Amino acid sequence: MPIKILMVCLGNICRSPLAEGILASKLPKKEFHIDSAGTGSWHIGRQPDERSIAVAKKYRIDISNQKGRQFSKKDFDAFDYIYVMDNSNYQDVIRLATTIEQKNKVQLILNELFPNENVDVPDPYYGVANGFEVVYKMLDESCEIIAQKLLEKHS
Ligand code: 4NP
Repeated sequence: MPIKILMVCLGNICRSPLAEGILASKLPKKEFHIDSAGTGSWHIGRQPDERSIAVAKKYRIDISNQKGRQFSKKDFDAFDYIYVMDNSNYQDVIRLATTIEQKNKVQLILNELFPNENVDVPDPYYGVANGFEVVYKMLDESCEIIAQKLLEKHS
C-alpha cells in the first residue's frame, strides 16, 4: 500500500495544487500517493489557477491535469498525512475531525521548515504578481524536508 499524503488549502487552485506537484516530484510514484483538496467548494472540477500552472512549469513540474475537489471527512481515514497551508485551513479541517488520531494527522506545512512557529503560506490569489513565485519557494523548501523524512521513515 502506498503512503498517502493530502495537501489542503482554501480553494484547491493556487497553493495545494503546487504543494501536490512539488512533493510528487520528490518521491517515487509507486510508494507515495499525493493528492490535494480545498476546504471551500467554489472550484470543484476546475484546473489549477493559470499562475500556479505557470510557476510550476517554470520549474518543470506539470500540474495542469489536476482537478479541484473539496476536502471531506473521509479524507481523514483515506490519508496518512494531511498538510494544510494556513491557520484558517487548519481550523476548518480540525473542526471536521472526530478522533485524536484524525487531528494528529493534520499539520501546518511550514512547521516542517519553521517548527512550532505556525507560519501561514500566504494566499497568492488576490496578491502581488510575484506571490506565486514566493509561495513556490516556500513550498519547495518545506516539501524537500517532508520528502526526506518520508523516505527515511517509509523506505
Ligand atoms: P488557494 O487560493 O486556497 O491557495 O487555492 C484561493 C483561491 C481561490 C479563492 C480563495 C483562495 N476563492 O475565494 O475563490
